[in-house]
Amino acid sequence: MRDQISVYDQMLRIQAEMAFPLERPLFCSAEWEKAENVLDFGCGNADYISKLADLWPNKSYTGVEYDAQMAAVACKRHTRPKMKIITGTLDDLPAEFRFDFLVARLVMMHLADRKSISDWAASHASKSAGALIIDADDEHFRLFPSLPHFENALATLRQRTHQRGGNRDVRSAVEKEWEEGGFRHIATQRLIIHSELPSAKERMFLYMVLTAELGIGSPLPPEILEELLAWVLDPTSYAQYGIFGATFEWIK
Ligand SMILES: C[S@@+](CC[C@H](N)C(=O)[O-])C[C@H]1O[C@@H](n2cnc3c(N)ncnc32)[C@H](O)[C@@H]1O
Repeated sequence: MRDQISVYDQMLRIQAEMAFPLERPLFCSAEWEKAENVLDFGCGNADYISKLADLWPNKSYTGVEYDAQMAAVACKRHTRPKMKIITGTLDDLPAEFRFDFLVARLVMMHLADRKSISDWAASHASKSAGALIIDADDEHFRLFPSLPHFENALATLRQRTHQRGGNRDVRSAVEKEWEEGGFRHIATQRLIIHSELPSAKERMFLYMVLTAELGIGSPLPPEILEELLAWVLDPTSYAQYGIFGATFEWIK
């Protein structure tokens, strides 16, 4: 039986593989191009930040991850000379730490107090720094046909986020919050990850299996696996989910 951390690790891995090619245009900004010190807040297993490091090896990367087991996975797997993983929260970074570009991907929705992040960012941004908030855009979530067993497991997982004070409805709030914090909103781009994209259906299937495992534990009951297997083999089935990327610049 797999433990929660290895399930979460695999889920983040497959999610990053599926989404990164589509999210790459989010990094086409002047702020990103000129950034030297990149901060990835809530870096998880650091798979995502490593994709950035492989494409832009001249930048330095600091990943901050407060789950000690996940941070250990990140440290073990991603040993790059210009990458550091800090186990803890933003407050564990040195007071003099400054970022040129902050990435916060799929983390804001888990936080009970999002404002503390934009406040922290305002006091640790270098001159003309940028920030990119990438998070769920649930308005674009679609599943065909409906999968009651899977949807129950997904609801359990989302309810847990909610009980911990998280809120998945980040897109509408984040622009206002970061502008109030002194950042200028440059653009919000909305993306759809669809199972019809090349190689996406099998990845989407694995992603759904792992999401269900995170929701209700492993091993999964056979009825969910059967439901998901039927879904992946059905030529008419599909799934899609939305992601948004909001880009900001520091203007003070
Ligand atoms: C859904 S994962 C996303 C990981 C990574 N950003 C990615 O896109 O693959 C969210 C991560 O944020 C971490 N996290 C949540 N709140 C945090 C905080 N206050 N400080 C540091 N990490 C945090 C969680 O432990 C989790 O690993």
